[in-house]
Amino acid sequence: MKPRPNIDAVRTVLVVGSGAMGTQIGAVFALAGYDITTSDLDPAALERSRDEARRRLVRLAEKGARGREEVDAAIARMAYTTDSLEAARSADFVLEAAVERLDIKRELFTALDEAAPEHAILATNSSTIPSSLLADATARPDRVCNMHFFNPALVMACVEVVRNPWTSDATVETAMELARRLGKQPVRLNHEVPGFVANRLLGALRDEALRLEADGVASFQDIDAAARTALGHPMGPFELMDLVGIDVSYLIRLSEHEQSGDPSDLPHPSVRKLYEQGRYGRKTGRGWYEYAG
Ligand SMILES: NC(=O)c1ccc[n+]([C@@H]2O[C@H](COP(=O)([O-])OP(=O)(O)OC[C@H]3O[C@@H](n4cnc5c(N)ncnc54)[C@H](O)[C@@H]3O)[C@@H](O)[C@H]2O)c1
Repeated sequence: MKPRPNIDAVRTVLVVGSGAMGTQIGAVFALAGYDITTSDLDPAALERSRDEARRRLVRLAEKGARGREEVDAAIARMAYTTDSLEAARSADFVLEAAVERLDIKRELFTALDEAAPEHAILATNSSTIPSSLLADATARPDRVCNMHFFNPALVMACVEVVRNPWTSDATVETAMELARRLGKQPVRLNHEVPGFVANRLLGALRDEALRLEADGVASFQDIDAAARTALGHPMGPFELMDLVGIDVSYLIRLSEHEQSGDPSDLPHPSVRKLYEQGRYGRKTGRGWYEYAG
């Protein structure tokens, strides 16, 4: 019989990948009382991750958002290793937050499946790779799902739990309850859809904003102002594109078009123009807006 995942069996967690997401997700687990190991191939990345997680946790104590003792206890629960598979042997829950490459994730899932205890769930934090593309790399497709945190993970409350066609109800329930115990607000997706829920909403807003600007209805500055002042968004869609990177938005659309073949998924001509001019947003000092030094 297949082991049935169960929230009370989750005590020790492995986060694979110590980049932007893995670093803060590890801190979130530690604050919630889980023993957490973060792994990465790259020892320098691990070192940076450890420093960054500590700095952010100490900052929470300094701001009074968390008690100093609570933060010290969280830091004491965090371990770091370059040996993901050794750490997987004692993990009750594995969250993969490694680089966004299907071949690397598939290899990882096969190896993690062999190493992790039978009852462990193998979840991926991927924003664009659905777990149905990883489940068949394992012998436990019923215990594989997406558990999608948002950046910055210490701050953002949303976690999307996305089942693939083989994911069991017990796996979904365990991931949902785990997110709640982390102090997050889980959103359950009943089946996979590109972009999941939150990024699809954002994409629809961005596409409409690009149409309004291209039709000359309003300037991009005014469209941003409307998003901020009427909808209460912290920043408008053009400001957000500049923050995320015009290059990132452009390449994501190209890959969505490659997958769907739908011409409406191609990058908008205004975004293509900025991309071709090397105006990638904040990172290059110019995108929709210009940024001083
Ligand atoms: N950056 C975001 O805003 C964001 C938001 C939500 C979800 N995600 C998802 O989170 C995942 C990680 O994204 P990120 O932005 O943290 O990436 P990142 O590039 O900052 O970090 C990825 C880390 O994975 C490590 N890595 C690569 N191969 C590995 C392996 N085989 N074993 C262990 N470690 C390995 C790299 O050394 C690197 O440190 C991706 O799947 C992405 O889709 C990212």
